[in-house]
Formats: sequence, C-alpha cells, structure tokens
Amino acid sequence: MNRQWWHNKIAYQIYPKSFYDSNGDGIGDLPGIIEKLDYLSYLGVDILWLSPIYQSPLADQGYDISDYYKIDPRFGTMEDMDRLITEAKKRNMYILMDLVVNHCSDEHLWFQKAIQDPEGEYGNFFYLADEGEKKPCNWRSYFGGSVWYPLPGTGKQYLHMFHKKQPDLNWENPRVREEIYKNINWWLEKGLAGFRIDAIINIKKPLPFSDYPADREDGLCSPEAMLSEASGIGEFLGEMRDKTFAKYQAFTVGEVFNEKPGDLEKFIGENGYFSTMFDFHEAVIGHSPKGAYDNRPVTPEEYKNACFTAQAKIGDTGFYSNLIENHDEPRGVSHYLPGPPCEAAKKMLAGLYFMLRGIPFIYQGQEIGMENTEVSSIEQIDDISARGEYETALKAGLSPEEALAAVSLMSRDNARTPMQWEDSPGAGFTKGTPWLSVNPNYHRIHAADQMEREDSLFQFYRKLIGLRKDSDYGETLVYGSFAPYLKEQKNLMAYFRKGPEKTLLVMGNFQKEPQEAVLPGVAARIVLNNLPHTEIKENKIMLEGWQYVILEVK
Ligand code: GLC
Ligand code: CA
Repeated sequence: MNRQWWHNKIAYQIYPKSFYDSNGDGIGDLPGIIEKLDYLSYLGVDILWLSPIYQSPLADQGYDISDYYKIDPRFGTMEDMDRLITEAKKRNMYILMDLVVNHCSDEHLWFQKAIQDPEGEYGNFFYLADEGEKKPCNWRSYFGGSVWYPLPGTGKQYLHMFHKKQPDLNWENPRVREEIYKNINWWLEKGLAGFRIDAIINIKKPLPFSDYPADREDGLCSPEAMLSEASGIGEFLGEMRDKTFAKYQAFTVGEVFNEKPGDLEKFIGENGYFSTMFDFHEAVIGHSPKGAYDNRPVTPEEYKNACFTAQAKIGDTGFYSNLIENHDEPRGVSHYLPGPPCEAAKKMLAGLYFMLRGIPFIYQGQEIGMENTEVSSIEQIDDISARGEYETALKAGLSPEEALAAVSLMSRDNARTPMQWEDSPGAGFTKGTPWLSVNPNYHRIHAADQMEREDSLFQFYRKLIGLRKDSDYGETLVYGSFAPYLKEQKNLMAYFRKGPEKTLLVMGNFQKEPQEAVLPGVAARIVLNNLPHTEIKENKIMLEGWQYVILEVK
C-alpha cells in the first residue's frame, strides 16, 4: 500500500453550532473554534472536520446549503474561515469542510430559478415531474413521507431524499456536476485539506422512476430499495475525484451506507474515489425497518462481531474511518455501554475502537465522555429526523410517552447539545442562552475537570492518540494487520495488531463482572491499562469489570 500523509492522523469532528460561542448569541461560531484550537492541539488531534457552516436556513442544521461560497453569518465571516485555516496550519492541523452536494436548500438561487421557470436551465438542476394523479415513484424520504413535493405554483413536483427543504440535485446533468466541481476546487484552493462527503451514495438514482414493493403501511418503500437498484455511481465519483480531489492530494471521507458488495476497492482502495469512508457496521445494529421506535439495544457481542466483520471486509484494501458517535448518532457511551456508564467503561470503549485498523474519528465531547441528554416533551426536540420518527411511532400505535421514550434514545439532539467546557451556567459554552439546552449533567462531566485530572477519560484519549504516533508502536497500530483473538469468549473483545517487528494484543472486558482470559504467549509489556492494576499469572490474565489493556506479546 502506498503511504499517504493522512494514514497516521487522528480526526476530530466539530459540530460548530454547539462547540464554542464566542459572542454570547447562544450559537457556536468560527472565532469560537479558533479560540479552542489549543485545546484540540493539546488533545493531539490533527484533522478537524467541520459540520456545515455555509449560508443556510438551517432547516437541517446546515445540511441544507443556500450558497456554497458563503459562510453563514451566524457562524462568522469568510475572514474568520481563512483565519481558522491559517491558525490550524500553524499547529500542524488540517481543516475539512462538509461537502453536501446530493441536495441543496430550497432557498438556493438554483431552486428559486427553477420555480420561476421549471422548463428553463435550472429546472434541469433538479428532478422535476408533472403533478398528476400518481407520484412518479413510491420512495419514502429519509425523514419520513414521500420524496415528492409540489414545486410551488408550477403544477410540477420535485424530488427530495431528505427534508422537503433539501431538493436533490440532478447529477445526470453535466452542468450541475461542473458547478459542484468548481466549488470544490475553489475551497481546496483556499487551503482546505479536504472534505467529509455527505450522503453521497444517494446521487445516483435508478431512472426512469419506478415503484418498489411497499415495506410499511404508508405504501412507500425505504430509500434502501432505490439504492440497491441504482447502478453506475462510479462514473460520477471517479469524475469528481479526477477533476477535484486528486489534484490536491485532498483527504476525503465518504459518508457511505449501503454500498454494493465488492465496491470497497473502488471506493477506498488504491486510487479509490475517496481516501476513506466511515465504518457504519456498528451504527446500524438493531435498527428496525419499521422505524426507530422499534430499534433494539446493542449487546457487547453484537458490537464486537460488527467491528470484526468490518475489519475482515476491509483487510488491507484501504482504511475505514472508525467512530463510536457523530452528529447523527446517539452518544457512543450511552448507546454501546449498558448505562449509566462509568469512566472505566468509557475508557474501554474508547480503547477498543481506537486501535482497530483505520483512521480514528473523535466527535466533540466524546473525549470527555458526554452522554445522551434527557427530554420531557417532543417540543424540546429540535432534530427534524427525530420529529419524523415520533410521528411514525404514534402512527404505529405507541402512546405519546412511549413514542417520546423510544425516540429520545436515537434523537440526533443527543450529540448536538452544547460542548461542556466547565461547571458554570451554559457549561462554559455560551454566556447567553444556548440554542439547544445544555445536558444537565454538565456539573459532573466537563472539560475543565477532565483536563486537570490525571486519570480522566480525556487524559486516556491523549494516551491512545500518543500510542498511534509513538515511535515504538505507531507503525504497528497504523499499518499492522488485524486478527481477532478468543472471538467466542462472551463479553470479551480482543484482537491482535501485528507488524513486522511487534505484536500488540488489545483486550477489553465488556461487562461489569471480572473475567479470566488465556494469553497467547508471554506478555512482554503492559503498554496501556485503564485501571491501576493488572493481574497476570503465567498464561492467564484476570480482567476486572470494564478493564482494558494493551499488551505487547512475544
Ligand atoms: C447526512 C448528515 C445528516 C443530514 C443528511 C442530509 O446523513 O450527516 O446530518 O441530515 O446527510 O444532508
Ligand atoms: Ca456565536
């Protein structure tokens, strides 16, 4: 495998609206990120991915862009953005923006022009169809309801895979692709290191539109049905790579769900469409086709098996990006650990995913162990996806209380509550009123405490990051092969990372009860431990509840 500059890097996702508010309006902003660069640099991360900060009505919190060349004034100015890129460079950090080009906002000029003249040039920027008795197809949008919605005052309708304020761009139109590539290059010229690429698998639709078997009582079919019918996305993605990213050695990470078997090589192999893509095998465990209300909790065995499946699939084809949470998912420690999670368990989960082969991503607040939040009514939920799921739950016959309880486990607000910097009103995130309520546990969980406490989760993350860059172990942890160990032993997740020089054994006891495990040979050294002691007797290790160790083995 050819070595790339980003192979040994650690990425960190910033959700700007909730990271740090520098001017007291309750909304996180770019100057706020700049103020916290030293914090991030102390943590040790290199690549910073910013969720969208472009001009947007924020119907889907910025994933609905109305001008790809402007910064939304709520987040700051273009000068702030330039300063962020410069200040990051000074600290050897790289900035990624979010590339949201499956759709734009209905307030984008292109869409406004399409409304004015659906038969004109801009009508062809979108998927339009005449309104008639029957919709062109029975696809359900990701946020609920049909993908078709009337184009105001025109007798036509347009397609939106997500919210109705997010009309899909027509990638079949070369003019659309040209506009997108122009914008990508414009940003790369500014000094961006690359992009996280949003919802990209949706850009290729099976045409002409047709119905697929309905999978719920609404008579609609899930978006996955259309994805499995679509073919030929590679032409778009290869073109995009060649006309943009490749020229800049950009780092790109695709948000790819439902790729086709055998596509991994094309997507993220040598000269793939992207540098890497997220491993979502864990994120989809327990998801029900009926809706989020029917999802079930994840067991440690399922988590382990999903990680091992993904690792086996990718082999040395390329690098997955590994994560336990992001702005669309519940907090990892609330989702994967039976609650309420203690700090030792949080460290174990961190250590287990961090040493998998691939690029580790940390989502803001994860490094201090932020947890899911509490809500007492649906009005307190901002997330449009959770609101849609709440409706689905009610329609399925759940009581409002049951629907709220079910939906609050997956609401995207869980990850979007403001970053907890310190134990002061507004959690140190803002001096004003935060746009979304702070998690009430901020008295207990906040960065100020974690930074100064030697045995904190934050300090543990620093050690994990340090190991991946360590002159003794970095090579093995970045490039070494992956092999499961004692896979059948319940609630034990263990694996080897093997390099030409060294072999490391990573072990986590995924339960509160102690358990014993046989070692494969002599443990030469304990490289990392989340508890003060380790009991090794001959060829056995006695792991305490939630204990995590990395051993160098001979
Ligand atoms: C991606 C984003 C999500 C957004 C959706 C539509 O999944 O991560 O936040 O709602 O795309 O852009
Ligand atoms: Ca602000």
